[in-house]
Amino acid sequence: MLYQIIYVSKRNCSEEEITKILDKSRENNQKINVTGLLLYTKDTFIQCIEGEKDEVNTLYDKIRKDERHSNPILISYKPIKNRDFPSWNMGEKKINLEETDFMADMSGEEKIIFSNILSGKEETNAIDVIRKLV
Ligand SMILES: Cc1cc2nc3c(=O)[nH]c(=O)nc-3n(C[C@H](O)[C@H](O)[C@H](O)COP(=O)(O)O)c2cc1C
Repeated sequence: MLYQIIYVSKRNCSEEEITKILDKSRENNQKINVTGLLLYTKDTFIQCIEGEKDEVNTLYDKIRKDERHSNPILISYKPIKNRDFPSWNMGEKKINLEETDFMADMSGEEKIIFSNILSGKEETNAIDVIRKLV
């Protein structure tokens, strides 16, 4: 059964370090058929990982302990029929929260969901908003 995890965490690392994380993630995730997306702001990560339940659980357990971020909070954890990011072993997108452009396509309700994600509130519809950001 395919599962999808979305979590938010506090970013404690440089952009150079993020490049390393992405390179390693793409290499590793390809081997275990995990796909997803890493969104980041100057101080936050939002990551979606999807794949077989065991793979996703084991990976999240590993990622959680990484000291390049802290305080990971699960936003959504659910079985899925289809992947949202089937062609990305780990996509990436940098978001500048000071620019409102990235919210141009969002409804008022979606903006609230996005701010809930950033503040670590559980949101089963988080993926719909995240998809709009890439
Ligand atoms: C925000 C964040 C996201 C990460 N995402 C992934 C990922 O999707 N896949 C992965 O293998 N490692 C990811 N990592 C890195 C892992 O924590 C860990 O360093 C890496 O998997 C170790 O790989 P290795 O066991 O091959 O040395 C992430 C780390 C951080 C801080």
